[in-house]
Amino acid sequence: MLTIVYIFVPPFGMIKVKVFNTISETRKYLGALASNNISVGFVPTMGALHPGHLSLVRQAMESNNIVVVSVFVNPIQFNDPKDLQKYPIRLEKDLGLLNNFLSSDDFVFVPSIEEMYPSTVKKKYDFGYLGEVMEGLSRPGHFNGVGIVVDRLFRIVQPERAYFGEKDFQQLAIIRKMVELENHPINIIGCPIIREDDGLAMSSRNQLLSSSLRKNAGVLYQSLLKAQSLSAIHTVEETCELITRMINAMPGFKLEYVEFADERTLRAINNWIETDAIRCFIAVLAGKIRLIDNIKIEPPSK
Ligand code: PAJ
Repeated sequence: MLTIVYIFVPPFGMIKVKVFNTISETRKYLGALASNNISVGFVPTMGALHPGHLSLVRQAMESNNIVVVSVFVNPIQFNDPKDLQKYPIRLEKDLGLLNNFLSSDDFVFVPSIEEMYPSTVKKKYDFGYLGEVMEGLSRPGHFNGVGIVVDRLFRIVQPERAYFGEKDFQQLAIIRKMVELENHPINIIGCPIIREDDGLAMSSRNQLLSSSLRKNAGVLYQSLLKAQSLSAIHTVEETCELITRMINAMPGFKLEYVEFADERTLRAINNWIETDAIRCFIAVLAGKIRLIDNIKIEPPSK
């Protein structure tokens, strides 16, 4: 059964977007198209969409005949139940935004928890080192939950390409690893970070910040830009110290980690010349809201 949702969503007016809630209707629709040599691009999300998500959708539309966007707040990737409780849910607004982008053959997959998890999930991934550092250390079980849900979504949608943001750079590395472990014939495309005017990386969590914390949250991006310039004149250790001081000096902000690592292995570096692909990663508590960001660092010699 095909569901076309007509809803009145200010300021979009009356919208018409194709929505599937079940795996069987999704498979039936995609199965009927399979013989026509049609490429499917997939953008998995947890909703509360913002221009960062929409940039992924735009990129998927450029290279594929059909785009599928999933909206599913995946309970098993939340290591903190309070984080799950306060996760913003705005499905009608999301559908309104997607309606502006998607063409008539594209659709949004919005499964229920029961549809995605009809029985208890026991699977345990071993992502090796990639899952043991940074977010893997701070959020036990998080990447296992991400791996499980994206693997299930990939089996349902069976896309040719899937799009993920560099905003969650470690997640992108984990997805690539999961694809290798599961032998999915899917091309994983990393997309650049979309930022607010003050440089804060767009995130559905930003709306949970108080106005004073939001006003000062540009300090995350400022510190990453500083890391880029400091790398020419300071050691890795000194740069880490300066970034820590800069963030902790802002009232209400507390750095959880700053790490310079090889982009491919995520192994921390102690010296700028250890690799030619360096990225700086930070996690910061702004009040009770945890924010993450990262930036590419050019080795000083270049
Ligand atoms: P969610 O946080 O909704 O993000 C969906 C996708 O949008 C991810 O690939 C994320 O990296 C990307 N994204 C978020 N903010 C972005 C920004 N400012 N610029 C560019 N891309 C951005 O990430 C998840 O959901 C979930 O873990 C998911 C992969 C859907 C599995 O549940």
